[in-house]
Amino acid sequence: MNDRFLRACRRQPVDRPPLWIMRQAGRYLPEYRELRSRLNFLTLCRTPELAAEASLQPLQRFALDAAIVFSDIMVPLEAMGVPITFDPGPKLETPLRTRAQIEALRTLPAEQAVPYVGQTLAILRRELEGKTPVIGFCGAPFTLAAYLVEGQGREGFGAVKSLLYREPETLERLLAKLADAMADYLAFQIRSGAQAVQIFDSHAGILSAADYRRVALPAVQRVIRAIGTAGAPVIYFAPAAGHLLEDMATSGADVLGICWRTPLDQARRRIGLGTGVQGNLDPHVLFAAPEVVRERTLAVLDQAGEAPGHIMNLGHGILPDTPIASVEALVEAVQSRERRLV
Ligand code: CP3
Repeated sequence: MNDRFLRACRRQPVDRPPLWIMRQAGRYLPEYRELRSRLNFLTLCRTPELAAEASLQPLQRFALDAAIVFSDIMVPLEAMGVPITFDPGPKLETPLRTRAQIEALRTLPAEQAVPYVGQTLAILRRELEGKTPVIGFCGAPFTLAAYLVEGQGREGFGAVKSLLYREPETLERLLAKLADAMADYLAFQIRSGAQAVQIFDSHAGILSAADYRRVALPAVQRVIRAIGTAGAPVIYFAPAAGHLLEDMATSGADVLGICWRTPLDQARRRIGLGTGVQGNLDPHVLFAAPEVVRERTLAVLDQAGEAPGHIMNLGHGILPDTPIASVEALVEAVQSRERRLV
């Protein structure tokens, strides 16, 4: 059993830092593009055998220390009664702006709403035979709300911020509903085989620290508190959120994902060694020559330091045009840190 990843989540010593890559199953892989050429993204997410195949593709190529279930943060929202399309990012026909629309959101148990995510996890656990751990995930309530209120991804996500200032109770109602739905969804993923979970708060960074503390943080805390007893470590990732680090450290997560903007030594000084860190090579480094990838990877590992509780990753998702040779250089650089535990 390769348990480096789970050990690092729990801040236990490891022979070398574990490595996985956000968006490791995706368009930079020719075999993913081939799979996707045959069916659309949502159909892929909803077909357990094929979703599991997409999850396993990067592990067949690279010595990665965790698999992540193939899905999207918007998938469980579809099942709440919000029709979503992908082009390539998520798009809603009707943005959610009124109290009535928010009250009308369905809250089916995840088991009934998205049974295929559980089936994909079960296939992954069977295929990996306990050799590599499997990560489940969801979007954080605020980030999901940002898409729902805006209707699509847009720089600055102005609509959700306007709602926050105009009708704070309406946004809080939406966040509470999403928090309960995501708590149920993560608990379902853990029951189905996920051995750790990551919560993506991709757009929390648009908030000031005061607004984050007032609306976004309590919603994440509510999710993490609710699954606290499920026994799977929780990773909480918010990019471009260096101004929120100390507050994020009160989320209850075991590990914070740190984006490439904040050096890991600074992050560790600010949040303390009681919380693990994940990251944080700039995804654009992977467009440089293999020697540069190696040098920059080793620099990240040095910044993480010797204290247990570092999971190597990029500082945001891998980009679609990333060369395979760069991922190989990243993997080799991390492997070169392997040493026997004394
Ligand atoms: O990490 C993995 O390999 C697992 C799968 C995964 C996907 N999306 C598949 C996907 C995960 C963990 C996500 C999370 C996700 N989705 C986030 C959080 C991470 C982040 O980047 O901050 C966000 C914001 C989304 C919303 C989303 N879905 C966007 C903005 C896009 C389009 C642009 C992009 O970066 O890909 C998607 C579509 C999507 N989700 C694709 C994949 C593989 C591409 C779809 C395709 O094949 O055309």
